[in-house]
Amino acid sequence: MPTELIVALDVPGLDEAGRLLDRLAGGARWFKVGLHLFTAAGPAIVREVRARGANVFLDLKLHDIPNTVSSAARSAAALGVGMFNVHASGGEAMMRAAVEGGGRAGTARPLVIAVTILTSQAATEADVLALARAAKASGLDGVVCSAREAVALKRELGAGFKLVCPGIRPAWSETGDQKRIVTPRAAVEAGADYIVVGRPILAAPDPAEAARRVLDEMRG
Ligand code: C5P
Repeated sequence: MPTELIVALDVPGLDEAGRLLDRLAGGARWFKVGLHLFTAAGPAIVREVRARGANVFLDLKLHDIPNTVSSAARSAAALGVGMFNVHASGGEAMMRAAVEGGGRAGTARPLVIAVTILTSQAATEADVLALARAAKASGLDGVVCSAREAVALKRELGAGFKLVCPGIRPAWSETGDQKRIVTPRAAVEAGADYIVVGRPILAAPDPAEAARRVLDEMRG
């Protein structure tokens, strides 16, 4: 499958998100809804994206007892999200509960993606790999990682284990606070299944044009 672009909807509320979705219509097919927007707008934002025929990556990084994560996963699936994530550090029972709960809504099971170690925390490559292996062993579909780790992770975990890569910056954009950046084309070549792009699109004078440029660059 060709690499998909996920636009991070990092805006404060439903109105701003709706305006952005209107401007980006016909371009990106995936949108990431994170803690900030979901806490403000709730399930309505997922319905807004779905109503436009696009897919939602619900980035809430679940981490709780297995029973609670299973229930939340089922609710996410019932809402119609296509992908959600959990902290791998929550353990194998919790990760299995996320997969099981995600399959209990009577809809297609969303992809369940693991967060290994937050980039804000120190980690060795071995720590990241151990958590990614545990995620795969628990039936998860993939991990969030830097595109710089993509070649090694695909080698260790297999081509079918999905890699979702933030920290992407086209050569023409500001780097902001992302330090270990990779261009969209380099991420595609490294084997990313999904790239997550926020500010280079959101902060551009013309977000639709910026998204088009990213998509063109991905296609090479
Ligand atoms: O604006 P930018 O392109 O940096 O946005 C990247 C998105 O991916 C943000 O929503 C950010 O929270 C998320 N993310 C990240 N780095 C990680 C995990 C998630 O930038 N390691």
